[in-house]
Amino acid sequence: MRKKIVAGNWKMNKDYTEGMSLFSEVVNMVNDEVQGQQEVVVCAPFVHLHSLVALGKGNQKVSVGAQNCHQEEAGAYTGEISAGMLTSIGVQYVILGHSERRQYFGEDNALLAKKTDVALKNNLKPIFCIGETLQERESGKHFDIIKSQLAEATFHLSAADFSKLVIAYEPVWAIGTGVTASSEQAQEVHAFIRKEIASKYGETVAEATTILYGGSCNPKNAAELFSQADIDGGLIGGASLKSRDFLDIVKVFN
Ligand code: G3H
Repeated sequence: MRKKIVAGNWKMNKDYTEGMSLFSEVVNMVNDEVQGQQEVVVCAPFVHLHSLVALGKGNQKVSVGAQNCHQEEAGAYTGEISAGMLTSIGVQYVILGHSERRQYFGEDNALLAKKTDVALKNNLKPIFCIGETLQERESGKHFDIIKSQLAEATFHLSAADFSKLVIAYEPVWAIGTGVTASSEQAQEVHAFIRKEIASKYGETVAEATTILYGGSCNPKNAAELFSQADIDGGLIGGASLKSRDFLDIVKVFN
């Protein structure tokens, strides 16, 4: 049985006070309402992370993640945060390859391969995002794009290291647009991703890999998306900013 995960990506939202109260609400609701084995991950802005780890201490169901890390271990990179710094404060996950990082910060597959390496070396679990733009889908290139994003940034890893990744399929056209992929569209791509993993690392690794869906996932559509055979949870943006909505998505796995 693959691990089910619902991860919230707050992106650049919530000041410190707002972030503390949202996280406290999430932890309390998880304690009161979550009955399954699903894991909840909250990926918050850097300045919140140390306090969130303290607030979540001892809670087996809730983990804290970052939204990025630098590709080098340390050095003269003004304004950057290293993977080791994140590990040192108890952060467990890091989102890598998000389309907003690819689009606005020019992150490509080669850079993301380095970030994946440094994250794993520092015992962070990457939530590695892949997905096509609308133009790529409309021109029928989406499978090729996903294949190369996966292969160029992660297929240099050993099977043991690849097994530490969580993959997130996020069609760019569905992110923050209110237009979600249909469950059939999402399942088709998730099955393709699992097949690609199987052809590189074998069936056992592929079957054990958690693959999340992200893109306008909300309490109304989560149950249908998560009922698909190859969808193991979600990476939730907008709906993770409201504790009730986020928990209703988490509780799909109850
Ligand atoms: O990382 C999360 C995704 O970008 C999805 O964002 O749920 O606001 O569409 P969204």
